[in-house]
Amino acid sequence: MIPFVNLTGQREKYRFELEKAERAVLDSGCYIGGPEVSALEKELSAYSGVPHTLTCASGTDALTLALMTLQLQPGNEVIVPDFTFIAPAECCAFLGGTPVFADIDRETLQISPESVRTLIGKRTKGIIAVNLFGQCAPFKELRKIADEFGLWIIEDAAQAFGARILDSTKGSPTSHNNKACAFGDISITSFYPSKPLGCYGDGGAVFTKDEALAQRVRTIANHGSIGRYDHQIVGMNSRLDALQAAVLRVKLRHLDEELAVREQNAALYDLFFEEYNASTPKELQVVPQKIAEGNTSTYAQYTVLAENRDYFIQKLNAAGIPYCIHYPTPLHSQGCFGAPIAECGTPLSANGNNAEWASRRVVSLPVCAFTNVSGIIAKLRTN
Ligand SMILES: Cc1ncc(COP(=O)(O)O)c(C=O)c1O
Repeated sequence: MIPFVNLTGQREKYRFELEKAERAVLDSGCYIGGPEVSALEKELSAYSGVPHTLTCASGTDALTLALMTLQLQPGNEVIVPDFTFIAPAECCAFLGGTPVFADIDRETLQISPESVRTLIGKRTKGIIAVNLFGQCAPFKELRKIADEFGLWIIEDAAQAFGARILDSTKGSPTSHNNKACAFGDISITSFYPSKPLGCYGDGGAVFTKDEALAQRVRTIANHGSIGRYDHQIVGMNSRLDALQAAVLRVKLRHLDEELAVREQNAALYDLFFEEYNASTPKELQVVPQKIAEGNTSTYAQYTVLAENRDYFIQKLNAAGIPYCIHYPTPLHSQGCFGAPIAECGTPLSANGNNAEWASRRVVSLPVCAFTNVSGIIAKLRTN
């Protein structure tokens, strides 16, 4: 069986370093906070170029902390992409806000700035832009809109820690300011095990360049306390374990090597699908998610759009290749956001938006640095 994400292969490769780091924490008697967590926060800041990094218990908590820090109030509207994992919309609704769903671009599958613009109203406070499947959202356009209407941006880089937007003037990777987690007023990531930078449980982090916002995130994450047993605002308990921090410090040292292999794997798939489409009728073609000009991707997923998904899935099943459908239902069709039961999930309307169009076609393939993509392609060629 080919795993969708080969976490055991990764552990095998780093076993010596991981076991040493894990043992040091277990022997230290310090399991919450402490030097491992502080060291990780410094290293994440050095990597991303964002001066303030605050680790927490998950990506979902990181989004909640960001929204609480930006003082989202009941009735406020937040524009989120219609096609993504539920967390950004869920966290907004959890705090009493109203998620408003923006459509996506059919090629990059990222939130569409044109759609965002049409949804701004009196109650709009901000935008949560998701770096879907590993490439950054179109932040240049989104920032222009946010500045024009006085909105904040939360960058959800749960799938994209390590992604970059290259400097088009030089055509080369630029300063840290062009790395994921540097584009939001507050940015977040997730360390869920299968993420490009994942730990061995739940974990997340919040990033900001603004010292006052950073202080507020830290206060809210620690029960709203500004001193021992002195609680000035209502907060929550959200923290990363020292053991997870130690694991992440090891994996962070290897992140760039892994991202390079993910890019090579994606290039192999790109080439294969180019050849495949050249000899396949249009109605059976399979088109990879477009990586926008100037973007790099962490390839959290290698996602394709299959014109006839059932046919492509039959091929994958015949070849024994695992796949996922990220995501089968646009958020506006979820029952928790008020879609009538009859409209929840599939079937979707015939003339729906791009999010519906994509959710009928997407298929994600294994792409991590410990996946034998050449082997997968060989199986695809013979099935
Ligand atoms: C885009 C996005 N945002 C937020 C999250 C939530 O992260 P976590 O699972 O760590 O809570 C995820 C997790 O899959 C995600 O993909």
